Amino acid sequence: MKLFADTGNLKEIEPLAAMGILDGVTTNPSLLAKESGDYRQILKQICQTVQGPVSAEVVTTSAADMINEGKSLAKIDDHIVVKVPFTRDGVKACRALSSDGIRVNVTLIFSATQAWLAAKVGASYVSPFVGRLDDIGTTGMNLIREIVDIFDAAEYPTEVLVASVRSPIHIVEAGRMGADVVTCPPAVIEQCFKHPLTDIGLEKFLEDWEKAQATAAR
Ligand code: G3P
Repeated sequence: MKLFADTGNLKEIEPLAAMGILDGVTTNPSLLAKESGDYRQILKQICQTVQGPVSAEVVTTSAADMINEGKSLAKIDDHIVVKVPFTRDGVKACRALSSDGIRVNVTLIFSATQAWLAAKVGASYVSPFVGRLDDIGTTGMNLIREIVDIFDAAEYPTEVLVASVRSPIHIVEAGRMGADVVTCPPAVIEQCFKHPLTDIGLEKFLEDWEKAQATAAR
């Protein structure tokens, strides 16, 4: 399963990329709105840092405008994946952009039928939002299982990109269900590194080693 960082912040992306654990990045208008500077420049820098797929979302709503905007975003860098919302216009735009060889990530997916329709029009990725489904008292991960089953049965090449991830539990479940990608806020990636038994174990190993060295030196 691939790991993407769900952020538009280069400072958060750089150390993850340098560590070699990052396969791509997803942004959205809310995330890029937090950053200062020219958004196209920011996206370009993210692409150069990650050297993998970087989702950049359109902010227009008609199919014609989304197609124009998508083509313009795709010119920023070869790594750009154009993100469109799941609407009727978004579906039309996905079909047009995909036919033109531009990779599309269809976002704001909250049902298996939405994911299925996006796959039918050539989406490279679908982004089901698991955390926001949890927020309204449902089980977001159930949607991932449904989509993975449908895509496997029909052998759609569209990748299931689990979004709106809130905890490492979402990541573990996504991996077990066979999702292709999980996109995580850097804070959630940070949580994946932590385990108190690792810290306690390392401290003990080093302490025992130092004791043995001190004894040997006597
Ligand atoms: O990038 C889209 C998605 O991951 C948003 O997550 O936490 O705003 O629901 P969240």
